[in-house]
Amino acid sequence: MADGATMTEMVFTPDGNARAFRDALGRFATGVTVVTIAGPEGPMGFTANSFAAVSLDPPLVLWSPAKSSSRYVHYEAAEHYAIHILDEEHGAWLARFGRGGEGFHGLSHEINAEGVPVIHGALARFDCVRHAAHEGGDHLIVVGRVLRAAHREGAPLVFSQGQYGRFTPGL
Ligand SMILES: Cc1cc2nc3c(=O)[nH]c(=O)nc-3n(C[C@H](O)[C@H](O)[C@H](O)COP(=O)(O)O)c2cc1C
Repeated sequence: MADGATMTEMVFTPDGNARAFRDALGRFATGVTVVTIAGPEGPMGFTANSFAAVSLDPPLVLWSPAKSSSRYVHYEAAEHYAIHILDEEHGAWLARFGRGGEGFHGLSHEINAEGVPVIHGALARFDCVRHAAHEGGDHLIVVGRVLRAAHREGAPLVFSQGQYGRFTPGL
């Protein structure tokens, strides 16, 4: 914010205006990931921006699936999973792995050493084994220990205020 500018407040309080809470959260820019597991009927992928780094030693990362998700039971139970960081060219993956999306249909992938489907072309990937799960209100905080990580050169897809776009370095 420029000096002297005032913040137009959209106030959230616990007894109302959940929209203001969501809108305030949306001011935080994130990358976007797709979390994959071997589901009961084949490969499953889940669009998530709740990913965060947790620990370097041991190597731990987290993400948070909503308990209301139709896929929650499978993700809550998964012993192994892979977290893919999306490239700026992967905007179509948000819908593909969101609610009612086509998932892996028509997408080339392989199976890693733990039996998890992994997608080609991600900017980075973390192959994880479940480490811990913590109570997180209407979400579950899933912490994974990273078994292997890979990355390539490229630019991340960035998500903020309900929209995705490119990262522009420098001001
Ligand atoms: C950019 C983006 C990020 C998302 N991040 C999460 C997330 O971190 N956790 C979550 O539970 N759902 C997240 N969602 C929503 C899920 O991808 C999915 O649409 C939702 O869980 C409902 O789908 P389902 O009931 O078919 O599983 C995100 C969606 C988008 C588009």
